[in-house]
Amino acid sequence: MSERNPLNDIRVASSAAFSRGQQDRPGATTLNFTQNQPLTASDIDTLAVLEFAAQDILQKYHAAMRQMETRLETLDQDIKLRLSRNPIHHIESRIKSVPSIFEKLGRYGKTQTLDSMERYIMDIAGLRVIVSYVQDVYDILHYLEHQDDLEVVAVKDYIANPKPNGYRSLHMIVKIPVYFLSGRESVPVEIQIRTIAMDFWASLEHDLKYKAVHEISGVNVGTELKRCSEIIEEVEDRMQVLARALEQDAPAGKREMKAARQIDLSDSLMGGENPL
Ligand code: GTP
Ligand code: MG
Repeated sequence: MSERNPLNDIRVASSAAFSRGQQDRPGATTLNFTQNQPLTASDIDTLAVLEFAAQDILQKYHAAMRQMETRLETLDQDIKLRLSRNPIHHIESRIKSVPSIFEKLGRYGKTQTLDSMERYIMDIAGLRVIVSYVQDVYDILHYLEHQDDLEVVAVKDYIANPKPNGYRSLHMIVKIPVYFLSGRESVPVEIQIRTIAMDFWASLEHDLKYKAVHEISGVNVGTELKRCSEIIEEVEDRMQVLARALEQDAPAGKREMKAARQIDLSDSLMGGENPL
């Protein structure tokens, strides 16, 4: 960043105060507040410092998340105009809560400070993009990779390489430029792109995991979930073949119009090969 951000001083002081607060009370990593427990002056200080400093940081991630969501919606509308179909079914977004950010820092063995939060936690802002077909996942990846002001920091392809439990999805960490009074900052956003079917599986698996069900009347839940994931993959492959066949079968005039618009899309906007 070129200009000096006056809020940085407050951030650094807050961060130091927060770390000190943690060290002063060994073992008290969780403030155990209950309805009737009075807060000490030091608890109130810690909360005030954390709230102020976290708000300053989190508003950056809010801005980045909104801008990334708008880009994805713009892509979806452009594809709809040219190809008469919306690849994106819907988008979900969330900002990670401050306690889960600090819990994650602890889990990864990092010092639980506001500085570490920005340095190590790449999924403070998260978007989940739910698409219709597997090919749509890779098309969205392709188009984002070709937006030259975005920096793709990492891609994890759990569709090509599903997790051992059967989890499938494509994860990206993308840095997007956001303009503030103090200048430009590149803010990371985690984007999970998955089909409706992958999302269905992940939601139910997440639910079962939280219920901690491992075996119900002789059924091994882990094996069963993995099998369900494989069946979903087979169904998706068949639906994709069907979608391609229907596309080919479209009336000739409409196909030509789409083809012309596709060429336009790859040549003028992306400057690369069009995967659609
Ligand atoms: P985290 O500490 O969870 O962020 O791990 P990571 O940084 O290695 O990220 P990873 O790409 O493995 O997964 C991050 C996110 O993907 C999680 O927060 C979940 O939203 C989702 N996810 C990953 N694995 C699973 C899974 O097995 N089941 C479900 N339901 N969701 C998963
Ligand atoms: Mg993550």
